[in-house]
Amino acid sequence: MTAITLEAALAEVSAEIDDRFDQLLRVPDDSRADLYRAMRHATIGGGKRLRPLLVFATADLFAVDRDCAARAATAIEAIHVYSLIHDDLPAMDDDDMRRGKPTVHKAFGEAVAVLAGDCLHALAFEILADPATHADPFVRAELVMDLARAAGPAGMAGGQMMDLAAEQTRFDLATVTRLQQMKTGALISASVEAGAILGRLPVEGRTGLHGYARDLGLAFQIADDLLDAEGDEAVAGKKLRKDEVAGKETFLSLLGVDRAREQCRMLVDQAIAHLHAFGDEADLLRQVARYVVERDR
Ligand code: IPE
Ligand code: IPE
Ligand code: MG
Ligand code: MG
Ligand code: MG
Repeated sequence: MTAITLEAALAEVSAEIDDRFDQLLRVPDDSRADLYRAMRHATIGGGKRLRPLLVFATADLFAVDRDCAARAATAIEAIHVYSLIHDDLPAMDDDDMRRGKPTVHKAFGEAVAVLAGDCLHALAFEILADPATHADPFVRAELVMDLARAAGPAGMAGGQMMDLAAEQTRFDLATVTRLQQMKTGALISASVEAGAILGRLPVEGRTGLHGYARDLGLAFQIADDLLDAEGDEAVAGKKLRKDEVAGKETFLSLLGVDRAREQCRMLVDQAIAHLHAFGDEADLLRQVARYVVERDR
């Protein structure tokens, strides 16, 4: 997949992930039908699919079987989508639009939205633990362990908790950095890590990829915050200008737009520099990094 343009790679990955969720989430003919419809609404047709692309692009470095990579990519996207469903709930960001569609609680009600998130969370680990994801149970256990850590209180959910506090408390740059690394960076790191785990790359060989993912994750959330301040809602497919209204401490509130953008660019350059040990086989990862700072959605 290395000679491919980023646009083509994202389109290919989006189609593949849509297809996987379509297969996984067949609507049953009983009273759970709306739960499945809600999961389909959230998972199929939308989103950049950046985390799945990171899984594929990293797995490709180590010639991982495409079906194994696709399964891990679907699991991580399931966690990401669950986090978006819950993030949009009235109890959190109270948003009406996501990926250009009504949010799940707007379309199906709050109770269904909570349960759809719960189910996607469970589905992710069911996919990873299935022998079809990798023949070696140690590889499967490592995938499960890494994603569980990335999703839990030391990762995404913990970062979301700090993010709520960032509306009430003044945080310094070091604390906002930690918050963003947890809330957004952890799942981005888990995506790169999944490719390395499937490729059986020894832990001591993963330093460059860890550095890449850490800087990329932080740059990604700064870009999200810049889009919140300056982006186009129709392109983003979600409500913007929320952070300032909520009085949320972000890189933008601490640094201002220009310095936040500068910081984002610097992190992207740094992320790419961490890939120095790789040749053109890592070009897709380099393109992903450049896209993160240039994206308009
Ligand atoms: C949005 O993530 C939430 C953050 C962690 C910043 P994305 O910008 O990747 O959202 P989708 O998947 O493209 O909808
Ligand atoms: C959410 O961050 C990150 C998650 C873990 C879901 P935001 O609240 O900034 O994401 P958007 O802007 O709603 O996509
Ligand atoms: Mg939020
Ligand atoms: Mg939000
Ligand atoms: Mg945001």
